[in-house]
Amino acid sequence: MNKGGLNLPFSYMWKIGDIEINGKVILAPMAGFTSTGYRTFMKKFGVDVSYSEMVSDMGLIYGNEETLTYLRSTKEERPLGIQLFGSDPENIVKAAKIVEDVTNNFDFFDINAGCPVNKVTKSGAGSSLLRNPTVLADIVKALKQNTKKPVTVKIRLGWDNSHINFMEVIKLLEEAKVDAIAIHARTTKELYSGTPHYDLLKDLQSKMSVPLIISGNIFTFDDAINALEVTGAKAVMVARGSLGNPILIKQIHTYFETGERIPNASLDEQKEYCLELARHLINEKGEDTAMRIYRSIAPKFFAGFKDSKPLRCKLAQNMSTYQYLEDTLKEYNP
Ligand SMILES: Cc1cc2nc3c(=O)[nH]c(=O)nc-3n(C[C@H](O)[C@H](O)[C@H](O)COP(=O)(O)O)c2cc1C
Repeated sequence: MNKGGLNLPFSYMWKIGDIEINGKVILAPMAGFTSTGYRTFMKKFGVDVSYSEMVSDMGLIYGNEETLTYLRSTKEERPLGIQLFGSDPENIVKAAKIVEDVTNNFDFFDINAGCPVNKVTKSGAGSSLLRNPTVLADIVKALKQNTKKPVTVKIRLGWDNSHINFMEVIKLLEEAKVDAIAIHARTTKELYSGTPHYDLLKDLQSKMSVPLIISGNIFTFDDAINALEVTGAKAVMVARGSLGNPILIKQIHTYFETGERIPNASLDEQKEYCLELARHLINEKGEDTAMRIYRSIAPKFFAGFKDSKPLRCKLAQNMSTYQYLEDTLKEYNP
């Protein structure tokens, strides 16, 4: 089967450092969502690589209890990257050593150089590092000298439209011996809206010496194919597109493995997935916390289904127990 420039299906192996990756679908880091429960649930759909939520270097150094919970993981999720954010090479190294003391159940470190949130950028971390790429490269060099694990970085195109500098950043990171680079095809100022600028990333992989991972508006199977075709990236990162639509991961993964196109999930399957993810999160966080968080996730499973608005409102506003979720889903039979 041939689709555009990609010869499909094919079995596919690439590497992050010495870690073999046997597929093209990555579950993106999403603070507030991609905790261990979420990642474990998603894994069975065919996630090839997972990332933790971003973890503050200073949070680890100060022993903040909540920060430490971000390091929880299960064996099933691997290969797994722990994503750190910070702005000082020494502190990042200290934080990485703490991670290694706390857990061995992960495979590589990732540095966040893409977060646009003011709380993060004002300290020079996240996408602020794109304005200071030599510091970002120093962070990678320091980490490489102090850990045996591979080190990757997640960046954006640049700070804003007048400061698109991803090529300069990529070159500095390659010189610093980074093991892979993920790029979200937007600027910091664009946050998460608008069309990602894949036009700027044409054949980017061929201009790089390390694996490229591509991110930005991957909501459908065709979005994934297009992003891979345009950029030549080794893998595609699914972020918001996975929320309430886990089958998307399976659709992409299976297509690259066998060429088969899997249909969208039925309503019954969506109900089942919604309940299963709730159980994972309850297992991880306890029912009260899990169901509070789940108010922003559960409704997404039913967007697009007939007359689902009242259901989605109920889940978003009133849900505080698993029993409520189960009963409410039973009542919905359009
Ligand atoms: C709620 C939310 C939280 C995010 N948290 C992180 C994070 O912790 N680290 C990171 O590198 N990117 C984070 N991102 C960015 C995503 O990984 C991804 O690059 C971005 O959402 C673009 O992909 P999409 O348009 O397919 O959603 C987050 C995005 C969202 C929507």
